[in-house]
Amino acid sequence: MTKETEGGLARGLTNYGDKDFATYLRRSFASSMGYSREMLSKKIVGIAYTPSGFNNCHRHFPDMLEAVKRGVLAAGALPIEFPTISLGEVFLNPTSLKFRNLMSMDTEEMIRAQPMDAVVLMGGCDKTVPAQLMGAASADIPAIQIVAGPMMTSKYGEERLGACTDCRRFWGKYRAGEIDSEQIGKIEARLATTAGTCAVMGTASTMACITETLGMSLPGTAAIPAVNADRLRSAEATGAAAVNLIANPLRPGQVITRGSVENALRVLLALGGSTNAIIHLTAIAGRLGIDVPLSWLNELSDTTPVLVNLKPVGSHYMEDFFYAGGMGAVLRELKPLLNLDCLTVTGETLGERLELPSDPVDRNVIAAAENPYEPQGGLVALFGSLAPRGAILKRSAADKNLFELEGRAVVFNSLEDLAARIDDPELEISENDFLVLQNAGPKSDTGMPEAGYLPIPKKLASKGVKDMVRISDARMSGTAFGTIVLHVTPEAVEGGPLALVQTGDRIKLSVANRRIDLLVEEGELEKRRKTLQLKRRDPKTLRGYDRLYAEEVLQADQGCDFRFLLRPEAQS
Ligand code: FES
Repeated sequence: MTKETEGGLARGLTNYGDKDFATYLRRSFASSMGYSREMLSKKIVGIAYTPSGFNNCHRHFPDMLEAVKRGVLAAGALPIEFPTISLGEVFLNPTSLKFRNLMSMDTEEMIRAQPMDAVVLMGGCDKTVPAQLMGAASADIPAIQIVAGPMMTSKYGEERLGACTDCRRFWGKYRAGEIDSEQIGKIEARLATTAGTCAVMGTASTMACITETLGMSLPGTAAIPAVNADRLRSAEATGAAAVNLIANPLRPGQVITRGSVENALRVLLALGGSTNAIIHLTAIAGRLGIDVPLSWLNELSDTTPVLVNLKPVGSHYMEDFFYAGGMGAVLRELKPLLNLDCLTVTGETLGERLELPSDPVDRNVIAAAENPYEPQGGLVALFGSLAPRGAILKRSAADKNLFELEGRAVVFNSLEDLAARIDDPELEISENDFLVLQNAGPKSDTGMPEAGYLPIPKKLASKGVKDMVRISDARMSGTAFGTIVLHVTPEAVEGGPLALVQTGDRIKLSVANRRIDLLVEEGELEKRRKTLQLKRRDPKTLRGYDRLYAEEVLQADQGCDFRFLLRPEAQS
């Protein structure tokens, strides 16, 4: 009989007070699924499996699962998939971020509770990969990630279409009256036509690239299109690599280290990647006790060039990035800046990986380090009296003419207020004003939605205004663009200075000085503070997950994780 210490099916027995009985019963019930004794004596690779009718991005997971299982079996172990929560970005109310931590708890606990010697994490859509990495980091058994891969683009007339930068581009045209409702209807039908994640360097693609950089997925796999046969081959190889991780154990805590997190930050900056990724990376690292202060991002930002010409910042799509050389090409350009001794799930170091011969690189898509698209990183953290603990600006996706500007605040105190007034013809607004949205941060009732990309008021959009300074405690989709200051911390419902801003106040943005300041006298702010009514429900009036979330979620600079999911020593 297999002993618990030998792993496989005898790991983590159900507690009946009699281990032999528990093993016997488990084998009996596992046999009822048709496994032979020989198969049940093998080591087990669990597969955290996340297809869902509410997740278009994972539509091809049945094919990928088959390939992962093939790889595991061929390498001599038994693959067993198990379902966890799946998060389809556009199908969740109020916003997918609210459920990332729930998915991470599901993933962690099911990895820990079920008998597996290693785990393959199958994710892709925005919050799924961070949730799985957070869960696996906390469970800390050998783990390897395989991502869904990006969608292919399609066309409308002469225009190439890819979700979801083009979703926003054409919606902007529709709002400005440049295209009609029949045209937008046709475009709607063509924006997302294949399985896979959004076709640009949005959150899903950024997280896929960060995962590869951290060393948690196989080299060269981040950008393979979802429908490409290479995606299936990478799934098969991932299954085999998971078996190798059992023979040569390497836990997430040995792969995700301060050094590999720094590499991931470098890559995030070089990609001009999604602003959401800084929240997710902070949360993943936080599970392993690694702090990611926003000042670290700024230190690296000054010395990391933007190397990638992909939407929403540039002009290409993820499939172009794959054929241009993908992450291997980016990492080779960044090599002098990286910590090359970091281990990856293959057991090789990043440096060893980069010594392998490289494929040709398309310089229209991936620049050489000596000739970058931008000399400094795509993201920058801002601090100042409006954001004492920081805010994020994706400078590579912003209008540089707006970087050093003082403007008049036009304030919306909720998403409802924004929806009710933004297109009001009576709204007093000019293109040099700053749009401010309050009460949309992590602890707000809306759970930090991707609402930071405030629409340009119709009366200005119809005059051709394409960008304005927009400030909020909300997030922005990784596929969006504009001069958008996000994640203002502390958030408004926590009584942060953002809550005190009133229409007519002056705000000063200086990207050069990394500052965002509210130009209102302290005496006046103190007066406002005394009468401030926080726009937040008392968590005690809530129940279930809503209550847990409201009581435990941390601010954006702490990755929006739950306090009780941090390591015990970090919870105070
Ligand atoms: Fe899934 Fe964009 S909707 S990645």
